[in-house]
Amino acid sequence: MNLVFLGPPGAGKGTQAKKLSGDLGFVHISTGDILRDAVSKGTALGRKAKEYIDRGELVPDDLMIALIEEVLPPGGGVIFDGFPRTIPQAKALDDLLEGKRMAVDGVILFDLEDEEIVKRLAGRRTCPSCGAVYNLVYNPPGKDEICDRCGTKLIQREDDHEEVVRKRLQVYRDQTAPLIDYYAQKNKLIRLDAGRPIDEVYADLLRIVNEKRH
Ligand code: AP5
Repeated sequence: MNLVFLGPPGAGKGTQAKKLSGDLGFVHISTGDILRDAVSKGTALGRKAKEYIDRGELVPDDLMIALIEEVLPPGGGVIFDGFPRTIPQAKALDDLLEGKRMAVDGVILFDLEDEEIVKRLAGRRTCPSCGAVYNLVYNPPGKDEICDRCGTKLIQREDDHEEVVRKRLQVYRDQTAPLIDYYAQKNKLIRLDAGRPIDEVYADLLRIVNEKRH
């Protein structure tokens, strides 16, 4: 089964995708994580992507589609987190999966209000070493700004500063929100209230995914 996690920045897609892939064995493909890794390693993709990410804009479709073609496992079983983000990306994903006799089986839409998004992203801290994600208010590390898992000093993402977050929200509304209709028309859209505590959202997500699997 292949799932797409759709929703505004900071809605909790990455947090839930990590839990679900850990528990049910999905392959978690986060295009944001792959791009940030490419930026930190200074690869050709990273050098091209950096200016877009820092401005809160989308990386061009051709680069993103080529990236997905490269990382898609042959047997599927993927949570796509942060991809697709435009109609051309969604069509390319449909074609790519169809060519491998697969499909997008469900699209989970993470619903969250803008003010809560800004609050969550202001408090987000990530571990540059192992990728763990925290929140200073809702999901704090045990020791002040130090990763519980590996002891590395946590950092704030450059694109989590309020001005860039507002830009990302605008980009979401203009370029990504049309995917809601695209998938609703294909009867694949499932809405999830992402405004609740992490464990409550997860319990609901698990119920939805288990219903789809049986
Ligand atoms: P990406 O990394 O995909 O960013 P995003 O979609 O904006 O999503 P985020 O990672 O900000 O949020 P999230 O929903 O995963 O929330 P999280 O779980 O961390 O993309 C970054 C950039 O890369 C883009 O702007 C673009 O430039 C580029 N890019 C990526 N993919 C692309 C594509 N396909 N096409 C073109 N460009 C692309 O949670 C947020 C915070 O809230 C955390 O602190 C967390 O601890 C906390 N939290 C989570 N859930 C809860 C909860 N239920 N209650 C309270 N706090 C919570």
